[in-house]
Amino acid sequence: MKTSVLVTGGAGYIGSHTLVEFLAAGYHPIVLDNFCNSSPGVLRRVEALTGRSVTWREGDVRDASVLDALFSLAREQGAPVECVVHFAGLKAVGESVAKPLDYYDNNVYGSIVLLQAMERAQVRRIVFSSSATVYGEPRSLPYTEDHPLAPTNPYGRTKAMVEAMLADWCAADPGRTAVNLRYFNPIGAHASGQIGESPRGTPNNLFPYITQVAIGKREKLLVFGNDYPTPDGTGVRDYLHVSDLADGHVKAVEYARRARPGCFAFNLGTGRGTSVLELVKAFESTTGRTVPYEILGRRPGDVAQMWADPSAANELLGWRASRSIEDMCRDGWRWQSQNPDGYV
Ligand code: NAD
Ligand code: UD1
Repeated sequence: MKTSVLVTGGAGYIGSHTLVEFLAAGYHPIVLDNFCNSSPGVLRRVEALTGRSVTWREGDVRDASVLDALFSLAREQGAPVECVVHFAGLKAVGESVAKPLDYYDNNVYGSIVLLQAMERAQVRRIVFSSSATVYGEPRSLPYTEDHPLAPTNPYGRTKAMVEAMLADWCAADPGRTAVNLRYFNPIGAHASGQIGESPRGTPNNLFPYITQVAIGKREKLLVFGNDYPTPDGTGVRDYLHVSDLADGHVKAVEYARRARPGCFAFNLGTGRGTSVLELVKAFESTTGRTVPYEILGRRPGDVAQMWADPSAANELLGWRASRSIEDMCRDGWRWQSQNPDGYV
């Protein structure tokens, strides 16, 4: 019998890549997405890519009735939901400073409504999209999972709040399991070039900005600071291929199904840092495109450098990021060049 997983936010950047991995691993994913930052066309691409049909409903994770209906649907189909994978939420740090209540409403209240529906449906496992942003300013590097949580913006605080809520939720019932996945910086796209990241408006993040410069949509990259205490002065991050990150979710669901119940946190990163200029150079040499750039001042709120200690995920989840920076650049460029305007 197939194992169903409910995937909230499954049409998004990371969710869509994760669907591909779930389908390849023989799971039956059921998607709930309100398409506030994606479109149903993404799911058609996933279907074309995998040759499998995807069950999905348009709806909001804050709508209890749609959640109840999806859990019932899975039961009626003879494959009750065994685990929820919760991607749905808002993710822009700057916007979260300007509109904090939207973030607490979507990310925190949405998680409460979801957990309440899970209780009604007697679903006791959840994998949650947390973020390395929960750590805040690094006290030591690499970040290990026991680094104190001190997020510096409302978005990060919503992630830390949901992690705290999941710990309490698990403590209240010895049969419950929550796996918090603290992502570092996912970039790139599926190797087919069929699915990828399609940011609306001006990209906030480095990699989609680079690809948009390379395709001529933007004149030049603006590098935020070259006076950090890093080897070349530009910010250092732990970039990982989105398909490696997607695979981490399959491993996390497997872990949730086999481990003793409880609340767990895992860093998902490569354990290696790459600077802004190193990423630009790797992109240029891998793709043969030139990325003009200009050095500006630092972006407020940025840390100089951060990278993961992924050893807990390596050992306990049996997960390891296997793709290189060059793979990320090649696959991200394939997606951008084959889909200059994203999914539109
Ligand atoms: P995304 O915006 O591409 O995907 C999120 C999806 O959730 C979208 O399809 C959106 O339409 C949907 N959604 C949002 N609110 C919803 C709601 N209330 N009900 C139903 N659907 C809703 O973002 P992503 O990059 O794929 O990120 C997925 C998750 O991972 C988010 O929770 C994000 O905070 C977290 N995360 C992302 C990154 C990153 O670098 N992309 C890093 C750390 C954590
Ligand atoms: C940002 C978010 C973080 C989120 C992550 C992945 C902030 C403060 N943090 O992290 O919460 O989890 O994205 O979505 O926004 N850079 C440039 N020029 C650009 C864009 C970025 O030089 O146009 C630099 C940044 O200064 C940084 C590096 O590139 O040094 C990476 O930036 P970005 O891709 O935005 O990721 P983070 O800041 O790590």
